[in-house]
Amino acid sequence: MPLITITKEPGEPSVVVEVAPGTTLFEAGAKVAAGISTSCVGKGTCGLCRVKLLAGAESLNSFTDEERKHLGNVFHLTKVRLACRTVVGATDVSIEVVRKRK
Ligand code: FES
Repeated sequence: MPLITITKEPGEPSVVVEVAPGTTLFEAGAKVAAGISTSCVGKGTCGLCRVKLLAGAESLNSFTDEERKHLGNVFHLTKVRLACRTVVGATDVSIEVVRKRK
């Protein structure tokens, strides 16, 4: 089963969680209390559950219409996706939780 490495805060040690293929990154984050932002709780409507891909993008589903609506067409630059719309495939993925800047 794929391993998801999650960095909750830049510069802090990561946590690793094993998930079944078909699990979303939002669900993976919830397993380890990663603190991924949300107000819609995984329905793809709030646009808050942003994570930055550090490795393993090839394991994931294609960028979705909901992501395009909330994030625009700049994935190739930002590497940011919506965790609840991003589904893990067969191989490992590494992400960093994107925090709202205050
Ligand atoms: S949790 Fe709201 S869009 Fe992902």
